[in-house]
Amino acid sequence: MSKGIFITGTGTDVGKTYITALIVKYLKQKGYKTSYYKAAASGNPITDGKVVAQDAKCIIDAAGLDKNPNDLVSYIFKEAISPHLAAKREKNKIEILKILSDYKKIYNDNDYVTVEGSGGILCPLRYDDKKLWLEDVIKALNLPVLVVANAKLGSINSIGLTVHYLKSKNIKIKGIILNEYDKNNFMEEDNKKMIEDLTGIKTIACVPHNCKDFDFNGIEKLYE
Ligand SMILES: Nc1ncnc2c1ncn2[C@@H]1O[C@H](COP(=O)(O)OP(=O)(O)OP(=O)(O)O)[C@@H](O)[C@H]1O
Ligand SMILES: [Mg+2]
Repeated sequence: MSKGIFITGTGTDVGKTYITALIVKYLKQKGYKTSYYKAAASGNPITDGKVVAQDAKCIIDAAGLDKNPNDLVSYIFKEAISPHLAAKREKNKIEILKILSDYKKIYNDNDYVTVEGSGGILCPLRYDDKKLWLEDVIKALNLPVLVVANAKLGSINSIGLTVHYLKSKNIKIKGIILNEYDKNNFMEEDNKKMIEDLTGIKTIACVPHNCKDFDFNGIEKLYE
């Protein structure tokens, strides 16, 4: 039976793709059939006249997957703006049914699927006659989440608020991953303790800068 998990973050550019690539690489090296999915991605480059899903390409390259990036993302937008606005401007409205069906195909074909969110947890995907938020996708796909955050100053606030919001929406949180973590920095070590105390959620990994392989020992157990 296949399993999935949703990677959210405290914002854009905190390292969701970087961490997801390390997780997918770890699962692949353990011999599992594994893939990646993202519902909506903004800010993608045009290559040979065609928009290419950049995050998916990063995962494929880093983890060594034999896949086409655009097959792993349902909505690929050019402009680096919120998906709800990119969808409106690029006239490609986001439909939850397409997300469900694209995800199911990947899910049915793999042991473990790691799903990346867009931006932070509070992200509109559609805001017209219909409303769709990132949390609706997490619920529709029935996934638990991991929260990725940069370990730097400000993480107590950003992780505290993200976890508070997820809990208020009854979304199951399986752990926190601190990115760009410096184990010799006393403040970052304290951030980890404070965050665990504040949220009651365990930090399952502290990933250093420029890490190329990470031992996510036991992460499989967190997938549902
Ligand atoms: N541990 C790390 N070591 C070195 N570089 C990193 C690390 N984590 C993230 N980066 C770099 O920081 C930048 C932002 O990271 P990334 O693209 O993973 O963020 P993101 O949260 O996925 O952003 P988005 O919201 O756009 O999807 C990238 O250039 C990435 O390579
Ligand atoms: Mg990303």
